[in-house]
Amino acid sequence: QKKVGFVGWRGMVGSVLMQRMQEQNDFEHIAATFFTTSQAGQPAPQFGQTDAGQLEDAFDFNSLAQQDIIVTCQGGDYTKQVYQDLREQGWNGYWIDAASALRMNDDAVIVLDPVNRTHIDNAIDSGTKTFVGGNCTVSLMLLALGGLFAKDLVEWVSPMTYQAASGSGAKHMRELISQMGAIHTSVTESLEDPASAILDIDRQVADFIRSEDYPCDQFGVPLAGSLIPYIDSQMPSGQSREEYKAGAEANKILQRMDTPVPIDGLCVRVGAMRSHSQALTIKLKEDLPLDEIEDLLESHNEWVKVIANDREQSMRELTPASVTGSLSIPIGRIRKLAMGPQYISAFTVGDQLLWGAAEPLRRMLTILLS
Ligand code: HSE
Repeated sequence: QKKVGFVGWRGMVGSVLMQRMQEQNDFEHIAATFFTTSQAGQPAPQFGQTDAGQLEDAFDFNSLAQQDIIVTCQGGDYTKQVYQDLREQGWNGYWIDAASALRMNDDAVIVLDPVNRTHIDNAIDSGTKTFVGGNCTVSLMLLALGGLFAKDLVEWVSPMTYQAASGSGAKHMRELISQMGAIHTSVTESLEDPASAILDIDRQVADFIRSEDYPCDQFGVPLAGSLIPYIDSQMPSGQSREEYKAGAEANKILQRMDTPVPIDGLCVRVGAMRSHSQALTIKLKEDLPLDEIEDLLESHNEWVKVIANDREQSMRELTPASVTGSLSIPIGRIRKLAMGPQYISAFTVGDQLLWGAAEPLRRMLTILLS
């Protein structure tokens, strides 16, 4: 059995990964060691049948170096602190990482096996040891549009995102709920009075959202009752870092770095919990009939699901509320746009913690074990 060390298994992405690995009985095929940055020596969690002993120190290089594979969801700071030194000390195991720190390195492959399995297999054969999960919006978009990219039918895509609070972290999810509750509490009495005027309630809500009492320590600005049209840091290009990643990472996954497909749009945080949505404007290289486009999309992988461009179905099946907690990647609102027959719209949704983060890592681990 391969020795697999887990770092950051207790955080939000790590917990989702552990849950998926339990569901899939992945722990039965490995000898797991659990690392900690603060509680070395305490009993390790028991996710599989076998006792994993004690928690090991995540900065103990001797202990890390004993692992055949290290899977980390601990975050970019940990990767930056440990990865290079571990390699320089001669460790030649597989490093599977959720953080973005190593993603664009030449010797790292971004993993999304339903889209780039051949690339992953070739990389393993040629000795690549570092595999990194992609940015959540990128992975979700490529799973949805895989059928069009695989046939090289996309001239460009403009994804406009509606990203959930989970992308910012666990504390942000809690804050979103607090914001929702606080808004309700600020107008409960008026809301319960059928004679109250909606414009008065609206003014009270607006005053409250702008007041000191509105809880927004994590986001810094209101999310519930509003939105945030900027995600991650500012870049000289005018893009946010999240927007930059769309083109950079997607083309790396597609192995199109030399002849990149332009992929660019605006990324916006909205008050959804853990499922990201994206409205896509796509220019195709050809004028294809819609049913052919839908067939290509639907047949690309087992998770993507084409939703008919129908009001009822879109409202029921193409939403964060319906997708949350599942691996399903619905794509709908597919129609030709007024700009011309090669221009189509689409809307897609996916769970940011599953296919957006944990699942590509879990599957990369199983590829290495097979
Ligand atoms: N950057 C993403 C977000 C998180 O903020 O939603 C997943 O990569």
